[in-house]
Amino acid sequence: MEPIRAIYPGTFDPPTNGHLDLIMRGAKIVDELVVAILRNADKGEPLFSVAERAEMLRAATSHLGNVRVATFDGLLVEFARREGAKAVLRGIRAISDYEYEFQMAMMNRKLDPEIETLFMMPAEKYTYVSSRLIKGVFRLGGDITQLVPPVVVERLNALKEKNELKEKIEPEMKMV
Ligand code: PNS
Repeated sequence: MEPIRAIYPGTFDPPTNGHLDLIMRGAKIVDELVVAILRNADKGEPLFSVAERAEMLRAATSHLGNVRVATFDGLLVEFARREGAKAVLRGIRAISDYEYEFQMAMMNRKLDPEIETLFMMPAEKYTYVSSRLIKGVFRLGGDITQLVPPVVVERLNALKEKNELKEKIEPEMKMV
């Protein structure tokens, strides 16, 4: 039988323990999970470059033999097709995520009916964690060490030491 490959797409700026939790859950049910970072995200200037995010994700998932980190541009379904993936994995933390995720899943189904979207819930302790909140809390000096992988803490601290945090975290990210 052909191996089942799924794509776990996202912006991952930065990766959180919620992302990792979902990666570990997904990796248990498919043969190969491709964690795919969107290169041209329409979310303003990212805090970390795509290469930095890929390095952080690789470091945080190096213990998982069936997880690969890649980047993509353009339509997710086209990338999934190129990768020979049958499914897209997405996390739902709360009902508030549902509407956006449902729309995206339906649009992806319209674009390619052969690709299924799988939804999984992260552990309850991560249901409030988002990359956006992590950046805001860290910028204000809050402790985020339980919420992101150690490699992300290191990178955030390095930005702080270089005094690059304030200029890189844009006003719209300052939600706390
Ligand atoms: O981490 P995010 O920002 O919630 O991830 C969003 C992502 C990358 C999954 C989504 O923006 C995406 O798939 N973009 C690629 C463009 C695309 O395929 N659009 C059509 C689907 S609505």
